[in-house]
Amino acid sequence: MSRLVVVGSGVAGLTAALEAVDAGHHVTLLTKSDLAQSNTRYAQGGVAVVMTSDDTVAEHVQDTLIAGAGLSDQETVEVLCREGPAAIREMIERGVQFDRQGSGQDGGDLAHGLEAAHSHARILHAGGDATGAGIAYALIDRLRESDVEIHERTTVVDVVLKGGACVGVRLLDGSEHRADAVVLATGGAGQLFPYTTNPDIATADGLAMALRAGAIAADLEFYQFHPTSLAAPGNFLVSEAVRGEGAVLIDEDGHRFMADVHPDAELAPRDVVARGIAEQMARQKGKPVRLDATALGGEFLARRFPNIDAASRAQGFDWGEQPIPVTPAAHYYMGGIRTDEWGRTSVSGLYAVGEAACNGLHGANRLASNSLLEGAVYGSRVVEALELPDQQDTFDGDWTDPLVVELGDTAPDDDDESFVRNDLQRLMWDAAGLSRNGDDLAAAAAKLASWRQPGVTDAKSAEDANLLVVARAVVASALAREESRGGHHRTDFPEPEPSKARHSAIKGA
Ligand code: FAD
Ligand code: SIN
Repeated sequence: MSRLVVVGSGVAGLTAALEAVDAGHHVTLLTKSDLAQSNTRYAQGGVAVVMTSDDTVAEHVQDTLIAGAGLSDQETVEVLCREGPAAIREMIERGVQFDRQGSGQDGGDLAHGLEAAHSHARILHAGGDATGAGIAYALIDRLRESDVEIHERTTVVDVVLKGGACVGVRLLDGSEHRADAVVLATGGAGQLFPYTTNPDIATADGLAMALRAGAIAADLEFYQFHPTSLAAPGNFLVSEAVRGEGAVLIDEDGHRFMADVHPDAELAPRDVVARGIAEQMARQKGKPVRLDATALGGEFLARRFPNIDAASRAQGFDWGEQPIPVTPAAHYYMGGIRTDEWGRTSVSGLYAVGEAACNGLHGANRLASNSLLEGAVYGSRVVEALELPDQQDTFDGDWTDPLVVELGDTAPDDDDESFVRNDLQRLMWDAAGLSRNGDDLAAAAAKLASWRQPGVTDAKSAEDANLLVVARAVVASALAREESRGGHHRTDFPEPEPSKARHSAIKGA
């Protein structure tokens, strides 16, 4: 038995904690808000998994590799797709109630939805569009029944190193939790941007901690913007599953413009649809485009997508009757703490899983609905990794011939200015958003370098400090990749460059 600290209570952290306690480890789970606050809690469309006889693991692998735009690691993808069905059966055992065809939760086969770039309808969902909540609350119930020591509203600010190895975590009040192994399951980075589908917790804390600990991070230039969030405060996600059911995107004249952009129109890859919308919005002077779901009927929409229905109505839109305004928003981070397919980082004793990690699964772009599955599969594998012999608790972080990113000079200077989070978010949206170019990125890098690291006095300043560390790394990575690929689009290098079909790597100091 070893002592394990898990940081984060999304699908990845909850799965790791439950698996570890079942395997006999002493587990402490720390989470900075209440247990249910996570990106997981807000996930809508569902979980991609092969559970029908007309679908195959090979096709799920193929769809994932295509979405990854040449950068997904075949072995990592195969692990996800092969081990996915067992991970989902385990979720169901733990009480997650996926929607079924026909009436009654236990009657009927599992219902399967279709999303962009999937060759089969293989998306399981729960509560219609409340898949994440269905997963989170069931796993939290199991966690509360287990022997896991739970600390809510507990912000971890850093990992503790001894002789270069991770031996625990440090909290905001300076106290430490010592452990034989630490799993960072701290989620994504949507709060780098002013418009995001992510909740407030998504401030890239784990990635910043890992960089400060000298770990290798990877593919930080690849960020996914979701095409359709409600164009209203809060950017509530309007799931891709709505387009999967047949809703179409129209411009201000009612023209279905995505049909002019890609043969798959609204179900083209996410980055293509997001940029198609942004370009159309630019043509119509910033006015949002509209998603027309009226053909699906108000009664169906309310039943299949109850949360989106409620969120739209709260903003005064009746989407059964009229098209609703939508706009792209920051959604998912493909980059993260570099790990292998066991969640091992380049720092001994430090592991990372879920959206905080980058194990090469998503490459340059994530296939919709693969990340809940990632949390379940890799949240479980990281516990198996604890059984590997001691000398194998790290990996060298090396991808073949990575694009090495240098962070540049960020040493504190007397002239450095303080910044507020809104300024950082605006800068990132303008320079490192859906479309980037070298000049804007270089100017953003200089601006970010001129900002002073905030002193960490409370949870908010700890997050701001993390956002600044990660923003600098994102911009440096986006500058270094002089091509366009997946979620990284450079207007000055608009095409993919075959010689650059390699991961990027950046080492923390
Ligand atoms: P999270 O679920 O984000 O959990 C991170 C946890 O870490 C949180 O509990 C947080 O409080 C905690 N934490 C962070 N920093 C600290 C710290 N310093 N100290 C202590 N605790 C900390 N994916 C799909 O596959 N299908 C979907 O349908 C889907 N829909 C989505 C809809 C929305 C609106 C959003 C935002 C995302 C969606 N995604 C979807 C993506 C998916 O939800 C996430 O990628 C996934 O849930 C990430 O899980 P995670 O466990 O890695 O991180
Ligand atoms: C959605 O429901 O559109 C989000 C799915 C995802 O991000 O995987």
